[in-house]
Amino acid sequence: MEEEHMPRRELESIHGIPLYWCFVEKWGQVEAFQARPDDLLISTYPKSGTTWISEIVDMIYNDGDVEKCKRDAIFNRVPFMEMSAPNFINGTEQLDKMPSPRLVKTHVPVQLLPVSFWEKDCKMIYVARNAKDVAVSYYYFYQMAKLHPDPGPWNEFLEKFMAGNVAYGSWYDHVKGWWEKAKDYRILFLYYEDMKEDPKREVQKVIQFLGKDLKEEVVNKILHHTSFQEMKKNPSVNYETMPSWALDHSISPFMRKGISGDWKNHFTVAQNERFNRHYEEQMKGSALRFRMEI
Ligand code: A3P
Repeated sequence: MEEEHMPRRELESIHGIPLYWCFVEKWGQVEAFQARPDDLLISTYPKSGTTWISEIVDMIYNDGDVEKCKRDAIFNRVPFMEMSAPNFINGTEQLDKMPSPRLVKTHVPVQLLPVSFWEKDCKMIYVARNAKDVAVSYYYFYQMAKLHPDPGPWNEFLEKFMAGNVAYGSWYDHVKGWWEKAKDYRILFLYYEDMKEDPKREVQKVIQFLGKDLKEEVVNKILHHTSFQEMKKNPSVNYETMPSWALDHSISPFMRKGISGDWKNHFTVAQNERFNRHYEEQMKGSALRFRMEI
């Protein structure tokens, strides 16, 4: 795929979920994807800390060996299952060729996950992040990642986000859907805000979930290597190795701020009030609770 072939295009739809045209084109491969029992699925709504948890898990799999984790870019170590762009990357094909145990990244809402993951009872880690920070992070990502349609001004983008008219659809449905599934399947449900507040506690949860036993010094190494400051300067995770026609870091770096509560620098008082009312309606009846800052 070359630059002239990557003009911004409107989202298409797959089973009612807005998504990039080139993913939709190859959706048959996603539906037919064969999970293996020892796959670990990393699932998130976009901009919720996917890259962060992916690097943590790869570090755990490699017993804290930093050099091993620099062997390749994160999108090759943890392939993005539904990713497909002509002559560029195809996630399912990457995964089919990959030896076990595989780490698999996805952003699909629960109803779009290939059935083989449920049939094989794969372990899964879901990371959820508060909606306001996700909306802000997504706004910058829309601008720098050319796969997206033009986000327009912030106010318009925020309306689209609330209406679920963004890639991968409604944040509300996504988090509620995965939260419900976590009651019946082997899903570790984590929050970005908890990871910010106490990364050691959360990394230890992951280690335990994966059935590993790592020495304290290895855990500390993992924490250092996966801190925002370290990841921001690490080309194997900061996406700078992606061609600029796909991701334009001069517009906004992929490793942007890495904090909780940045929404306060973007939401007006009126936007916040409107968002809160809509949020209440959408989350009514759910036991899911998010912290909007820490
Ligand atoms: P911001 O845009 O708010 O800075 P994803 O990997 O799901 O696309 O999520 C990207 C978001 O996670 C970005 O948020 C990015 O800065 C943040 N992030 C990435 N690595 C991080 C880390 N080690 N610690 C905290 N936040 C991180």
